[in-house]
This record gives sequence, structure tokens and C-alpha cells, in this order.
Amino acid sequence: MNQILLNGNMIKRRSCIDIEDRGYQFGDGIYEVVGIYGGKLFLMDEHLQRLKRSARELSIKLPFTMANIKQDLIELTKVNDVIEGLLYLQITRGVAPRTHELPVEKVEPMVVAYTKELGDLTELQDMGSTAILQEDIRWLRCDVKTLNLLPNTMAKQRAVEQGAVEAILHRGEVVTEASSSNVFIIKDGIVYTHPANNFILNGITRQKVIQILQELNILVKEVPYTVTDLLSADEVFITATKLDVVPINSVDGHDIGTGKPGMMTIQILEAMRQLTARLQVQ
Ligand code: PDD
Repeated sequence: MNQILLNGNMIKRRSCIDIEDRGYQFGDGIYEVVGIYGGKLFLMDEHLQRLKRSARELSIKLPFTMANIKQDLIELTKVNDVIEGLLYLQITRGVAPRTHELPVEKVEPMVVAYTKELGDLTELQDMGSTAILQEDIRWLRCDVKTLNLLPNTMAKQRAVEQGAVEAILHRGEVVTEASSSNVFIIKDGIVYTHPANNFILNGITRQKVIQILQELNILVKEVPYTVTDLLSADEVFITATKLDVVPINSVDGHDIGTGKPGMMTIQILEAMRQLTARLQVQ
């Protein structure tokens, strides 16, 4: 489990970041987190497509083809023998003398990937958890998966201090997403989630869940909804890589519906489980 991928080479994990790496100094970089189920990378093409988009938005030229990086990441997962876990892939703009503006000379992006084993999340998914509300103080390009995560980490810290799994973020009255997941609410059999625009990260799990909902003939509306809608919802759940679907039983101490995971959320969770279980036997 201690091999990492560094600029195309599989090496032992060690500290080797230049102090003028722009990712280190400015958070000038992008990343993806991919779930590993039964030793297989889940929805990797979708993650790589999003990475490509993030790179384009920040004018970072990816130093690999999609086919090559895919091959390397599959290899890394195999070498480290991860069965259930995560793969973290990060690309920073690279090393250059520190100036706020982008370097004029050509810099080579720094590509790092490593894997991590994860404990069983079944109980969290089955029991659900709680969330708190926090004002969304992030920048206006939340659609780009950048390393700039301080507002997210601060919000999550608040949540953890209050024994909650997530901080649900809102800009004024409108619920956007959570510190490291997307948020769905259900009211009268209809599922609502914030549209995929610059205010949220368009989660790969979010997109898969929307597809599952459509296949189940459940109406899903990608529209903004308010904190009041959230608190008066019948069911609330969050989605993210490897968490998949986690029911939210209460928000800021206020019970959602019965205060227990709802029927529709359980149905969606089960559909997701079937999907990842199929991957494991492939
Ligand atoms: N976070 N929104 C935010 C702000 C996120 O950071 C994440 C994921 C998501 C869900 O996206 P996806 O379904 O593609 O994982 C939504 C990852 C897991 C992280 O930063 O560790």
C-alpha cells in the first residue's frame, strides 16, 4: 500500500514536493477521488472526463492521454492490492518561481496518485447520520474540482465538532451542496437537487443517482431549493464517491421526516449497491 504514482513512475511514498510547487503555494491544481470496489475503479472514465474539464477551465495542460493515465491508475490499484478504498489523483500546475500570475515559461504539471483503504460504510448508509447548516462562503467556480478547499474543510470541521457527518451549505436561502458531497431532498415523491452550475461540483455520484432515479421512474428536478424546503423535506440524503448514498436524519437538530432513513432513500441506496456489487464480480 505504499507505492505512489509520481509523474508516470511508480515509487515508494515519500515527501518530495518542491516548495515552489504552485499547488503547494497557491492551491493551483485539480484532483479527483475515485472509488475502488472489489479492486475495480468505479466510474473512472467519468472522473477522468471531469478532470479534463477542470484542467481546461484552469488552463492546465494535462501531461498524459486519458488512455495512459487510466492504465497507470489501474496498475497502481493492482500493485497496492486495494480491494475497498479510494484512489486520489492530483495534478498541480507545477514548479515555478512564485508569482501570482501564471508562469510565462513552460512548467511541467506535477501528477500524483495514491490509494487508500477504507473501512465498511454499510452501517453509516443503513443508519443515516446528521448534518448541520453553514453559509456557503466559497468562490463562484465550485464546478471546478480544485485544491482550494479551505472553506470546505472549515465547514466539515464544524460539522464533526457537532457530531455530524456533513455541513450542508447555503447561499442565503438557497441550498447548494455540502462540504464534500451533493445534497438531495425528497418531497411528495419528487426528488430535488441543485442544478449543475457554477455553485456546485457536479458529483459523479450525483449524476449516477440521477440516472438511477430516471431508470426507477422517479421524478427528479434539478432546481434550486431553499433551507426551508430542506427542513420540511420528507427525506434528505447526500451523495459522494464511496459514501454513495447516506441518509440525513436531522439537520441542525431538526428531524427530517420521521428522523429515520426514508423508504425512497433506501430504494436509491439499494440500487446503487447493486451497481457496485456488479462491478465486484466483473
Ligand atoms: N469530494 N461536492 C463537493 C464539494 C465535493 O468535494 C464532492 C466530492 C462532491 C461529490 O462528488 P463525487 O460524487 O464526484 O465524489 C460534491 C471528494 C470525495 C473529496 O473531496 O474527497
